Amino acid sequence: MRKVALITGALTGIGHETALLFAKNDFKLVVSGRRDEAGKALEAELQKLGAEAFFFKSDVQKEDQVKALVDFCLSKFGRLDVAVNNAGTEGKALPLTDVTTESYYYTFDTNVLGVILSLKYELAAMYKQKSGTIINMSSIAGKMGSPSAGLYVASKHAVEGLTKTAALEAAPFDVKVNAIAPGPIATRMFNDFIPDDSVRDEFVSAVPLKRVGEVSDIANMALYIAQGKSPYMTGASITIDGGMLA
Ligand SMILES: NC(=O)c1ccc[n+]([C@@H]2O[C@H](COP(=O)([O-])OP(=O)(O)OC[C@H]3O[C@@H](n4cnc5c(N)ncnc54)[C@H](OP(=O)(O)O)[C@@H]3O)[C@@H](O)[C@H]2O)c1
Repeated sequence: MRKVALITGALTGIGHETALLFAKNDFKLVVSGRRDEAGKALEAELQKLGAEAFFFKSDVQKEDQVKALVDFCLSKFGRLDVAVNNAGTEGKALPLTDVTTESYYYTFDTNVLGVILSLKYELAAMYKQKSGTIINMSSIAGKMGSPSAGLYVASKHAVEGLTKTAALEAAPFDVKVNAIAPGPIATRMFNDFIPDDSVRDEFVSAVPLKRVGEVSDIANMALYIAQGKSPYMTGASITIDGGMLA
């Protein structure tokens, strides 16, 4: 049976690559994001690959829209096997002396509330089936500090905690919840995070593998988990970072 996957933040970067890879590997797909035109273009791209795929517009900060997204998936396919909670923001780079309540809400409403709301409705659907697997997109910033990135760091530490807690709550239903924690990956987000070329080069020179990762590094791990290749794995967070944390 073809598995049904839902991917948030699927219009760019890691989410986009994951959607393409899943389509090439026989998944049925609901892809979501905030922009209609790009969403329809992705839907067409996935259908061209032969996938049964739909775009659904949804902002992960809004509970009614997250609920509608999961309901849409259930109405189209009758089930939800895999959810990739990938939508995220780097927020504003600010030292802790300069953070504002607004900058806190911007980062946390996307990276933390977005994951909490997604888990709420995805888990409920999966509990009914007594099966399913969820992948939360964390970061090495969920495992270490980073100057001027306190809000992002704190938000991704929250994703790590949510992943463990969801794994424990979901285990009796045979639903698995894991995280992937990327290091620097060549996407818009990484470039926005370190806009200065020379600072970015300096950052990359500190990576043991001396380069940034590709979106395929992350998408391939998501596919491995989504295909159920390691069914004993839950509550884990897989670091893919060119050796940075080592
Ligand atoms: N690239 C890295 O170095 C890196 C490292 C560690 C972790 N990550 C994590 O990987 C995930 C994907 O990031 P990326 O690198 O692929 O960057 P990206 O291209 O900027 O992707 C982020 C995606 O999330 C979407 N998004 C943001 N806020 C949203 C909201 N409120 N509702 C729905 N969608 C929303 C964005 O949509 P719009 O296009 O409309 O803004 C975008 O498609 C993020 O969770 C990020 O924290 C990335």
